[in-house]
Amino acid sequence: MPGGIDPHTHLAMEFMGTETIDDFFSGQAAALAGGTTMHIDFVIPVNGSLVAGFEAYKKKAMKSCMNYGFHMAITKWDESVSREMEIMVKEKGINSFKFFMAYKGSLMISDELLLQGLERCKSLGALAMVHAENGDAVFEGQKRMIDLGITGPEGHALSRPPVLEGEATARAIRLAKFVNTPLYVVHVMSIDAMEEIARARKSGQKVIGEPVVSGLVLNDSGLWDPDFVTAAKYVMSPPIRESGHDKALQAALSTGVLQLVGTDHCTFNSTQKAFGIDDFRKIPNGVNGIEERMHLVWDTMVESGQISVTDFVRITSTECARIFNIYPRKGAILVGSDADIIIFNPNSSFEISASMHHSRTDTNVYDGRKGKGKVEVTIVGGRVVWQDDELKVVPGSGKYIEMPPFSYLFNGIDKADAKYLSSLQAPVKRYFTAS
Ligand code: URP
Ligand code: ZN
Ligand code: ZN
Repeated sequence: MPGGIDPHTHLAMEFMGTETIDDFFSGQAAALAGGTTMHIDFVIPVNGSLVAGFEAYKKKAMKSCMNYGFHMAITKWDESVSREMEIMVKEKGINSFKFFMAYKGSLMISDELLLQGLERCKSLGALAMVHAENGDAVFEGQKRMIDLGITGPEGHALSRPPVLEGEATARAIRLAKFVNTPLYVVHVMSIDAMEEIARARKSGQKVIGEPVVSGLVLNDSGLWDPDFVTAAKYVMSPPIRESGHDKALQAALSTGVLQLVGTDHCTFNSTQKAFGIDDFRKIPNGVNGIEERMHLVWDTMVESGQISVTDFVRITSTECARIFNIYPRKGAILVGSDADIIIFNPNSSFEISASMHHSRTDTNVYDGRKGKGKVEVTIVGGRVVWQDDELKVVPGSGKYIEMPPFSYLFNGIDKADAKYLSSLQAPVKRYFTAS
C-alpha cells in the first residue's frame, strides 16, 4: 500500500521552555520503522516572522531521511504577517496555516486575528487549521485546580474539559462559515468537538476533522496513575478524554464524519516532563505516535472490523495527500507517483515498547500494546529503508515536498460567494443600482 502520511507532527519544536526530544532525524527514523513515509510538521514563527521561522525549520530539517512538508503557525497579526503568508504560499510550498485558540500567553490568538487569518487564507487558497480549545477558559480552569490543591497530571485534564473543546470548535466552524472558507480541525479529542464537525458537514460546510491516535485508542486512566512519570507522559492538549470518547471517535472515523488520522507526535522525555512535578501547568504537552500510528489504526479499525483495507489507505495516506494537494504524487501507487510504498503483513503481529521503539524518548504512551499486522518493508522514493526490523536511513536524504494552494476543498467557494452577493442584491437593490 502507499506509505503512510502523518498530517500532524512536531519535530525539534521549542515549546513550554524546552525542545521536543525527537528531531527531524530521530522522529523520521521512527516514522519509517512504522510505515510512514511522509509527515507534515508545524513551523513556528520566530518573533512572529514567518520567513525567519521557515528558514529556522529548513535548517532543522537538513538531517531529514524521508519526505516532509510544512504547515505554518500564525501567532500574531500585522501587515508583515499578512504579506509573509503570501510568500509562504507562493514561494515556499506551504498551503496551510494553524491558529491556536489555546495556550494563552504564548501561541493563543484572538477571534479578531482568527477572522483576519481566515480571510487571508481564503484569498491565498490556503487551508486554515485550528487548535480548538477556549484558551481563556482553560486558564481559569487551571487556576480553579490549583486553588483546589490539585497539582498533579490529572489536573491537566480536569482543567480543560470537553466543553471547552466543543465551544472553540463550534466558534471556529462558525467563523469559517461566515468567511466561507474551508476549515481543518486538528487533534479532535472529544465527542463534543466531533459532533460540531458532524453538524457542519451535514449542512454542507467544508470542515475536515483530524483525530489523532492517542484520542482514538487511549483514555484518561493513565493520567490518574499515582506514579508521576507514568501519568505525565499522557499530558497533551486537548487532553486524552475519559473512556467513551475514544469509541465515539472511532465510529466517526468509520462513517466519514472524521477524515484522516494524525499523531501530534510531540515527545518530551521523563526529565522534561518533570518540569511540572509540582504543577501540571508546567508539564510540556505532547505524546508520541509517529511510529505507532499505522499499526494502531490497523489493529483498532481494520482488525476490529470497523473499516475496510481500502478505508485504511484512505485515512492514513490518500486523504491527507488530497487535502494538502499533493495527490497523486503522494497517497497512491500509480505510474508517475513517488515510489513511497510499504509492505504490510496482516498475518504478522506487532508489540510496542519504550525500550524497542526508535523515538529518542524514554517513555511510550502505548507501552505494552500488542496487536495484529506488521509493516515489514518501507520504501521511500524507491529505496528500501526498513526491512527485517532494520533501518537503513541516511541523514540528509529526505526531500522537502512543496504543497500548492487551492486544493479540492476550494472547489465551489467562488460560486458560493457569488451566490451570497447576488442574494444581497434583491433586499438592498438601492445600493447596487445607485452606483
Ligand atoms: O499537546 C500537544 N498537542 N502538543 C503539541 C502542540 C499542539 O497543540 O499541537
Ligand atoms: Zn494543537
Ligand atoms: Zn500538534
